[in-house]
Amino acid sequence: MTELAIADRTLPAGDRITDDELRTRCARPAFGRVLTEHMVSLRWTVDRGWHDAEVVPYGPLSVDPAMVGLHYGQVVFEGMKAFRHADGHAVLFRPHDHGARFADSARRLAMPELPVDTFVAAARALVRADERWVPFEPARSLYLRPIMFATDPVLALAPGREYRFLLLAMVTENFFGADSPPVSVWASTRYSRAAPGGTGGAKCAGNYAPAFLAQQEAAEHGCQQVVWLDAAEHRWVEEMGGMNIFWVHVQGEETTLVTPPLTGTLLPGVTRRSLLTLARDEGFRVEERPVALDDWQRLTETGAFAEAFACGTAAAVTPIGRVVAEGREWTVGDGTAGPVSARMRTALTDVQRGLVPDRHGWLVNA
Ligand code: COI
Repeated sequence: MTELAIADRTLPAGDRITDDELRTRCARPAFGRVLTEHMVSLRWTVDRGWHDAEVVPYGPLSVDPAMVGLHYGQVVFEGMKAFRHADGHAVLFRPHDHGARFADSARRLAMPELPVDTFVAAARALVRADERWVPFEPARSLYLRPIMFATDPVLALAPGREYRFLLLAMVTENFFGADSPPVSVWASTRYSRAAPGGTGGAKCAGNYAPAFLAQQEAAEHGCQQVVWLDAAEHRWVEEMGGMNIFWVHVQGEETTLVTPPLTGTLLPGVTRRSLLTLARDEGFRVEERPVALDDWQRLTETGAFAEAFACGTAAAVTPIGRVVAEGREWTVGDGTAGPVSARMRTALTDVQRGLVPDRHGWLVNA
């Protein structure tokens, strides 16, 4: 198949914001608020497949109020990052893996798959168009948000026959702030994120809004994030509001990084997968095994679970300092960032920033 060309409809130099304006907008780039000047757009129809690929100025859309994506939630998205290296060039972190997961999510929602090569070409085109937005500050990156939704205005309850793909970019520090301080988490026994056979393993919009109420409950208990337990028994820890979870299990001389297995009810995180690889490189054992909330508390109290951390594209590696659940709470380690979490964070960000060799071929030039 010949690769789809992406038309360049970027703003002429004179219509772009000035360097001063760009600096002002990026002064405090809270997650999700500082969008760049362009986006990529593609369309899919039954007759033509993927077409009309273009980089265009960022701006509002005109959509039909009856569109399927809006009413029935046929919407999938991704999150990946571009980093600026010391020599000035920009790289994408594991874009092919994000593209493959995007296709998996689309398949789960009965949507057309965007070929991975087109997904990566779109990401490269946007980073090139908005190159000056890729931050130089080491704690920052350009977060890319691909999204696809059904656009046909047909309220019959059936998959769409036409789709739009958009790729946006925003300047960001980490999800929880520049230096990712330890977060406190609320284990929700009242709400569930995903049940067996559902969409927990797909990155679809419908997995996120239902988390808002649990997230509010977390905030009412003084916590920043919700921890999801399995839907059947409310016993096994699955993941957090928008990220995966790891524990650092210390047994004598041996340290094991433990994370829940991919049972289909949790998101197969690209950062999760990267950390499993990097942990082995660092000489740790890794184990994908179920962890019950009770065991998290018990093993923390005996000192065996010395640390816990959240991980994801937005969160990178963020230590967990405190856990609150109905009628109980405990501190993880001494409540501050532990040495293994810090080491894993460095191992990940050093690869992303080009400070160590890219041994696993994860970086792609923009
Ligand atoms: C990510 O880490 O990329 C996410 O998508 C999580 C969240 C911000 C929705």
